[in-house]
Amino acid sequence: MTSKIKLGILGGGGDSLIGVLHRVASSMFDRYELIGGVFNPELAESKKFAKEVGLRTDRIYKDVDSLIDAEKKLPEEERMQVISVLTPNFLHFPMAKQLLENGFNVICEKPLTTTYEEAKILEKSLQQSNTIFAVTYTYTGYPMVRQMREMITAGEIGKIQKVDVQYYQGWINSVIHDKAKRSTVWRLDPKRAGISSCVGDIGTHAFNMIEFVSGLEVKEILADLNYLYKDNKLDIDGTILLRFSDYVKGIIRSSQIATGEENNLTVSIYGEKGGLKWEQENPNCLYLLEDGHPIRVLKPGHIYNSKLSLDGTKLPPGHPEGIFDSMGNIYKGVAKAIKKEDYNPAEFPTIRDGVRGMDFIEKTVESHKNGNVWVKLDQ
Ligand SMILES: NC(=O)c1ccc[n+]([C@@H]2O[C@H](COP(=O)([O-])OP(=O)(O)OC[C@H]3O[C@@H](n4cnc5c(N)ncnc54)[C@H](O)[C@@H]3O)[C@@H](O)[C@H]2O)c1
Repeated sequence: MTSKIKLGILGGGGDSLIGVLHRVASSMFDRYELIGGVFNPELAESKKFAKEVGLRTDRIYKDVDSLIDAEKKLPEEERMQVISVLTPNFLHFPMAKQLLENGFNVICEKPLTTTYEEAKILEKSLQQSNTIFAVTYTYTGYPMVRQMREMITAGEIGKIQKVDVQYYQGWINSVIHDKAKRSTVWRLDPKRAGISSCVGDIGTHAFNMIEFVSGLEVKEILADLNYLYKDNKLDIDGTILLRFSDYVKGIIRSSQIATGEENNLTVSIYGEKGGLKWEQENPNCLYLLEDGHPIRVLKPGHIYNSKLSLDGTKLPPGHPEGIFDSMGNIYKGVAKAIKKEDYNPAEFPTIRDGVRGMDFIEKTVESHKNGNVWVKLDQ
């Protein structure tokens, strides 16, 4: 019997964006074995996809209820141990809740749920279930993002005084200007996406990155969102001012209509002694900025990096680490937690990050709708 963790997947079929990232990431360190799941709402489509990726079809189920029923009847050593939830947002909550209540470990895509209330309910379910729950804020797995966190924690740039995160994409341009198209995409449908498109989809990554690398908690926000058309119900662009304290402030700039931009997530944290800057489209470089010195570029795999960063690097310096590696590192951390091995809590984002993310999304929309006012986040 293999000691690999038995993995099931909900969503993430051949028609999905994110499925391949999770399948590759889970296979990266030989810790998981993909067993089956529900890849698509149509059973026939799910089975067809299973065959395409070389899986047997006897553990492809019609829905999450049948998966739970059938898996729980199996002896424990054969049962799926962790289920990844990769469906559109509105299905995260019902699926994850049922899984927790039935004792499964869960890896859930962001945003955690479609409301803050649901997120808090899920957090309570987790407290009662004694299982592992990860939320895939993918970018936290990059070696140089981990390095950024470790350097800031060690005080290498001094006390933080300014935070600036930009997350610019332009993809929604191809949808938003056509009335018929913009009414069909799930990311613009409140029933399937939740109350936000841009902030819920990418602003939430920016928010999570800030708290992950800086170790600070955002206390208050003020948002100005753009919906571009009157009939478009969800924001597709937003600028959000952040207050950490009276003297530490920052900004999140996020957009899906930044024409020509691809996946431009840039995180800049400035301290009294220096600044650190990281760009998702150039993820192997971490820039250290200091007054009176040339910019220094730190790269993965070198001995000057922290243990946490080096643990996320597989090959010697000069072999670029990308988005698949970043997600692979998150899966590796979850595997350690499931197997009760030692791990650093920064190895994967938890339900707390997911709950904070939902509070942020809701308060952002609230701030905008109430006339761009300051709103406090729960702490
Ligand atoms: N972490 C990241 O960087 C990142 C990137 C992209 C997407 N995401 C998140 O991943 C999730 C999925 O996004 P996507 O872009 O892959 O969406 P998508 O629309 O491309 O794919 C959704 C998949 O879910 C399947 N599905 C729909 N209803 C289902 C059901 N009832 N049962 C089983 N499967 C079902 C679809 O058939 C499809 O395979 C979203 O929550 C999104 O926010 C995260």
